[in-house]
Amino acid sequence: MKVLVTGGAGRLGSVVCKELLRIGHDVLATDQRFLAGLSVPQRLADLCDAHAVYPLLEGCEAVVHLGNIPNLSLGPSPQVVLSRNAAMNTNVFRAAVDLGVRRIVFASSIQAMIRLEEGRSADTPPRIPYFPLDGEAPADPGNNFYGLSKEFGERTLRVLSERFPELVCTALRFPLLVGAWFYERAALPLPTSALNFSEALTYLDFSDAARLVGLVLDRQGPGYHQYFPAQAINLEGYTAGRVLSEFFPHIPRRLPPEQIETLVDRSALEQDFGFRPAPPLTVRVAQR
Ligand SMILES: NC(=O)c1ccc[n+]([C@@H]2O[C@H](COP(=O)([O-])OP(=O)(O)OC[C@H]3O[C@@H](n4cnc5c(N)ncnc54)[C@H](O)[C@@H]3O)[C@@H](O)[C@H]2O)c1
Repeated sequence: MKVLVTGGAGRLGSVVCKELLRIGHDVLATDQRFLAGLSVPQRLADLCDAHAVYPLLEGCEAVVHLGNIPNLSLGPSPQVVLSRNAAMNTNVFRAAVDLGVRRIVFASSIQAMIRLEEGRSADTPPRIPYFPLDGEAPADPGNNFYGLSKEFGERTLRVLSERFPELVCTALRFPLLVGAWFYERAALPLPTSALNFSEALTYLDFSDAARLVGLVLDRQGPGYHQYFPAQAINLEGYTAGRVLSEFFPHIPRRLPPEQIETLVDRSALEQDFGFRPAPPLTVRVAQR
């Protein structure tokens, strides 16, 4: 399949390009910067320019859209993150529909569904809708402008899928994406204060994320779909039930505590794609 990967020079994009090439796709990467050594053709373009996006997608059967400002701290301001991400997302999705590119995979974020609000004090826990958390949680980013950009991207795909039923659209609500640095850090005990942040408890390796993108391209059916492809960290000496009762007592649970084996429900990913990430990391909790 001929696939355009946006953000192809990025951390995830470069791994996705290699994985799609490995499983036999014809990959074209686009980014605003060039990455030496990426083993697929690259075209430089600014995705905020709608006119620049059309020629990139011509002749493609699928687009894996990863090109965005990936968090608030990397943009000059929240307004710029929201407006540039929204422009990139609508330009790519609209051009794909206009050109008959049926398959769209979008890198959304956990921040579309949990509230990591701007101005929140460090000891205020994020608002998590329920545990075990899955990708079906309603979008609710609060005033987090990065999360809002992802919510709007998801919503755009949803309405396009309703209007054009032949579209095959998938939003992957990625948690923190990690590489080698994360495993080095995880060798150190985790302070309990860090457990307030759900992001410290879930992650996905770049290679698992790229493998999932390949599975979605090959196996997804028509319509709009969203998932939370995350691995939950094991805390040494803690069951999932104990983590919830000690660190997240205020968050609703969808199962009785004794039936909760993990903080993340990946059953939809297993059912639809047979996807399982690498086994979870076990991390020690620092003595209080
Ligand atoms: N890294 C994470 O922990 C994480 C978590 C959840 C979701 N995501 C999402 O996954 C995707 C990839 O993230 P990443 O970590 O690889 O980020 P990254 O910054 O490494 O890659 C994003 C790429 O997009 C490109 N880009 C940005 N603006 C552009 C523009 N106007 N025109 C063309 N290209 C542009 C950048 O040059 C960059 O190479 C992003 O959409 C991000 O929001 C990442």
